[in-house]
Amino acid sequence: MFSLTEWRIELIPPDEEGSRFYLDYYKPFRLAALEQDPDVFGSTHDREINFSNDDWLSRINNPLVKTFVAVRLHDRKVLSATSLIGPMPNPDPASNPFQVSSEMKNGSDHHHQNHQNHGEASSVRFQISGVYTLPDARRQGLAKILAETAIQEAFAYSKQHSKRLELSLVVYTSNGDAISFYESCGFVASAEGARKSFNPHKNASADEICMHYQKSPE
Ligand SMILES: CC(C)(COP(=O)(O)OP(=O)(O)OC[C@H]1O[C@@H](n2cnc3c(N)ncnc32)[C@H](O)[C@@H]1OP(=O)(O)O)[C@@H](O)C(=O)NCCC(=O)NCCS
Repeated sequence: MFSLTEWRIELIPPDEEGSRFYLDYYKPFRLAALEQDPDVFGSTHDREINFSNDDWLSRINNPLVKTFVAVRLHDRKVLSATSLIGPMPNPDPASNPFQVSSEMKNGSDHHHQNHQNHGEASSVRFQISGVYTLPDARRQGLAKILAETAIQEAFAYSKQHSKRLELSLVVYTSNGDAISFYESCGFVASAEGARKSFNPHKNASADEICMHYQKSPE
């Protein structure tokens, strides 16, 4: 069990210090998460272990991705993480928001062009993704604090742009623990129910459900 007396929430900054932290501390955390809980993520350990440093850093350098971490102060170990991705282009939450955001950043995505063609929208859409707490640090409120931090950040963006916020996530229907967690944070499962999604990284299909944030900002 970790002692959680000395940790704090940080946003990994897109600068040199953030890049170093990302490679030295976030990357091992992420790889351990993919190895420990392969069934809950769209990506795989086999895929990400082969990422170059540039691949890793493209996430931190993507202005559409903000990664919040709970860090143990004495050794900088990452205990829990959550990413906020957006603004997203399409009304339907993406199964692979990291990929969509990196395609948008690189300007090669047709979703983005669609978005541009449809002019100013009345709302901004964000997604929560990459949610994980180390097994020894679970049920101590870390993921919830991180989710609340990400939610506040998304509301701040929507307020700044005078738009309504649509905040969503996608979770496998088999992941009951995560669904309970998201419900405890104020997300409600979409009335449209489950959808089947093909995952090219796993060469398999799985049922997933969208959840939407339903509370007003604090
Ligand atoms: C889901 C997960 C991120 C929760 O992290 P955590 O830091 O343990 O969550 P918190 O301690 O902040 O939990 C807050 C609340 O969520 C709910 N919750 C959390 N884990 C739960 C579980 N396993 N079963 C049921 N409810 C749960 C509870 O209401 C909890 O409050 P409580 O502990 O006072 O009862 C963690 O279990 C995890 O990393 N799972 C594997 C990765 C994963 O599934 N990620 C989501 C991919 S979409």
